[in-house]
Amino acid sequence: MKILNTFYIRTYGCQMNELDSEIISTQLEMRNLKKVSEEEEADIIILNTCSIRDLSEKKVLGKLFEYKKDKKDKIIGVCGCMAMNQKDKLLKKFPHLDFILGTNNLLDINKILDDIIQKNTQEKKIDLNYEIGIENFFAKRENKIKASISIIRGCNNFCSYCIVPQTRGREVSRDSNSIIKEASHLANQGIKEITLLGQNVNSYGLDKPNSKILFPDLLYMLDKVDGIERIRFMTSHPKDITKDLMLALRDLKKVCEFVHFPMQAGSNKILKAMRRTYTKEHYLEKINFLKSLIPNVTIGTDIIVGFPNESDEDFDETYKLFDEIKFDTAFIFAYSPRQNTLASRYDDNISNTLKQQRLQKLLKLFHKNLKTKYDKLIGTKQEVLVERLNKDKKSLKGRTRTFEKVLFAADPKLIGSLQIVDIKNFSHQTLIGELI
Ligand code: SAH
Ligand code: SF4
Ligand code: F3S
Repeated sequence: MKILNTFYIRTYGCQMNELDSEIISTQLEMRNLKKVSEEEEADIIILNTCSIRDLSEKKVLGKLFEYKKDKKDKIIGVCGCMAMNQKDKLLKKFPHLDFILGTNNLLDINKILDDIIQKNTQEKKIDLNYEIGIENFFAKRENKIKASISIIRGCNNFCSYCIVPQTRGREVSRDSNSIIKEASHLANQGIKEITLLGQNVNSYGLDKPNSKILFPDLLYMLDKVDGIERIRFMTSHPKDITKDLMLALRDLKKVCEFVHFPMQAGSNKILKAMRRTYTKEHYLEKINFLKSLIPNVTIGTDIIVGFPNESDEDFDETYKLFDEIKFDTAFIFAYSPRQNTLASRYDDNISNTLKQQRLQKLLKLFHKNLKTKYDKLIGTKQEVLVERLNKDKKSLKGRTRTFEKVLFAADPKLIGSLQIVDIKNFSHQTLIGELI
């Protein structure tokens, strides 16, 4: 019988996957397996995968081909969104793959390993719904200062380009008591900042008709947890960022003034084809209202360029809206058709070259606008949560409430504390300051 001592886990994709990897690792550590940071040292290799774009999947397929040549006697498994998306196809294509484990079956990892050891067969567990409540998805955190907490899993939105509803299933909100309990537990361990995670946190509670606790209510409850200094959340679908949520953001001391508020496109024709259910006018109205309530709020976005039939005029509208809003963070992607999505039925008729040109154009604009913003921050004083020692080992790194990175020289003993920093300069999207 195989003796297993060590495991290696590699995470692709979003913060949700990062947290899932921590949950899987916790399960494996419960059976006394030790996590190692090099594949070569591991008895089990787990790839926690992402399917959001073709490139995300290609990276994993490349790895699996690599292991085909040199598997030794390791156990190899694929978890995450590719397991949900490709299912048996993966097992067939890679006979050396020992298991696939879906995003709703994280707690089945040890059972799968037992079955592999006993039967020496390929194993799979990929349920579209949860058998065990997400309240039981415990994770031991490696970061001692900040942690993510999953509050709602899955997505009901079915944006036409997106594979997530297929890989994560429908929305399931976690019980608020369990969230508060986890937040208090993390605070007792010294965690200062929590990020509430969900594909769409604004839908929190809507799947439970008998629950009166919606997302803003949850924020009010979490704001009272002693020891937690900062609360962030992501992602928010623009269609249901409500006035109540904006007021919570304005009024709650711990909730930070940063909203990741993905616009995706600035042309109503494209937004409609994407099934985003808002127009650019609605989007701008919400942004303006948010800025009027919270003048120092910072806003993040995701943009997809090169969606089917995106004309020069459509892109121009995106460009203009992007320039008008002056986003503080922006993730810009070239459209990638995904299997079984509505948009995959449309002709992917924008060439890769044009997609890349549009992407670079937006990126250039983003950096130009960022420079103006950073110039304005010079001379201001910012509250920074000190997160770690910088690579140079001389200065400390942290973030402002509004999510800007800050670097300043100070004693490493300050790691984990809130400090006021005088901003003097900036370089490569990082503010440089002096401790007051
Ligand atoms: N739930 C989040 C998004 C998660 S996916 C939300 O709705 O905001 C993260 C981002 O990946 C999306 O916002 C979108 O910009 C991008 N994305 C999703 N599907 C894509 C595709 N098929 N091609 C290119 N980018 C895509
Ligand atoms: Fe995908 Fe849209 Fe759901 Fe976000 S809201 S995960 S983009 S379907
Ligand atoms: Fe990727 Fe799945 Fe997250 S597709 S972005 S890992 S939800």
